[in-house]
Amino acid sequence: MRRLEGKVALVTGGARGIGLAIARALRSEGAVPVIADINEQGAREALAGLDAPDGMALSVDVADQASVTSLVDAIVARHGRLDILVNNAGIGGNTPFLDITAEVWNRTIAINLTGAFFVAQACARVMSTQRSGKIVNIASLSGQRGGHGRGAYGAAKAGLELLTKVMAVELAEFGINVNNIAPGAIETEMAKFAHDAATRAAYNYLIPMTRYGTPEEIADAAVFLCSEEARYVHGHTLNVDGGFREAGLMFRSKAAPSA
Ligand SMILES: NC(=O)c1ccc[n+]([C@@H]2O[C@H](COP(=O)([O-])OP(=O)(O)OC[C@H]3O[C@@H](n4cnc5c(N)ncnc54)[C@H](O)[C@@H]3O)[C@@H](O)[C@H]2O)c1
Repeated sequence: MRRLEGKVALVTGGARGIGLAIARALRSEGAVPVIADINEQGAREALAGLDAPDGMALSVDVADQASVTSLVDAIVARHGRLDILVNNAGIGGNTPFLDITAEVWNRTIAINLTGAFFVAQACARVMSTQRSGKIVNIASLSGQRGGHGRGAYGAAKAGLELLTKVMAVELAEFGINVNNIAPGAIETEMAKFAHDAATRAAYNYLIPMTRYGTPEEIADAAVFLCSEEARYVHGHTLNVDGGFREAGLMFRSKAAPSA
């Protein structure tokens, strides 16, 4: 028996990377995927690979509230309900604190924090009338630790982690289950953009498992949090990071792999 049979599941930023892996994993558990992305062509191509005749591929800019409203309206018009949101769309960022411009700051917050809020609120309003739903926000280890270059990005993700707790407190009475995944370093296009060779070597040294994670490892955690098995897990941040968050002093007899 598949765990998410017939559940209508929105994944923002689902055209590639972690979002695409999550959409694929939700589909393999029987969910009806809705892939929404600023890259509409990419969303269409992603959906085409999922063998999901009832699925949808839609354009959205999560930083634009009107665009988010249109997205959620289109899902409800087609399916009459929304069971799962994976709030994944985001942009990377690696700018030293002294160099962060107002433009970089505002754009990073607009997409990674305000955009996540717009999507979560619009979806929660639908779920509250159903009195059921699952929301998984995708934050980051950069919202928990002070990584170099992560001023704007980390502040946005820390904000999203706190927002998850408030949502959990306020939405429980509507039967909406809210949690957060904090990925560590995951091998995606975003990581290729944001992590230079020195950053990669530093991560591989500091991560007890000495490697980056895969999008599929985040997807497995997302499926769990979207399933009935996680019904009493609420307001929680699940770190999926190869032990990066919990590690203390690291003594190694050999250097960790650099790539
Ligand atoms: N890759 C990592 O190491 C890592 C680590 C921690 C957290 N994360 C988080 O995981 C999520 C996915 O990251 P990824 O590595 O797969 O990134 P990615 O860049 O590969 O994919 C992000 C997707 O989001 C879409 N997107 C960007 N801006 C958007 C907008 N305004 N509206 C709608 N869609 C938009 C992009 O088109 C893209 O398809 C992000 O929230 C990211 O912050 C990633």
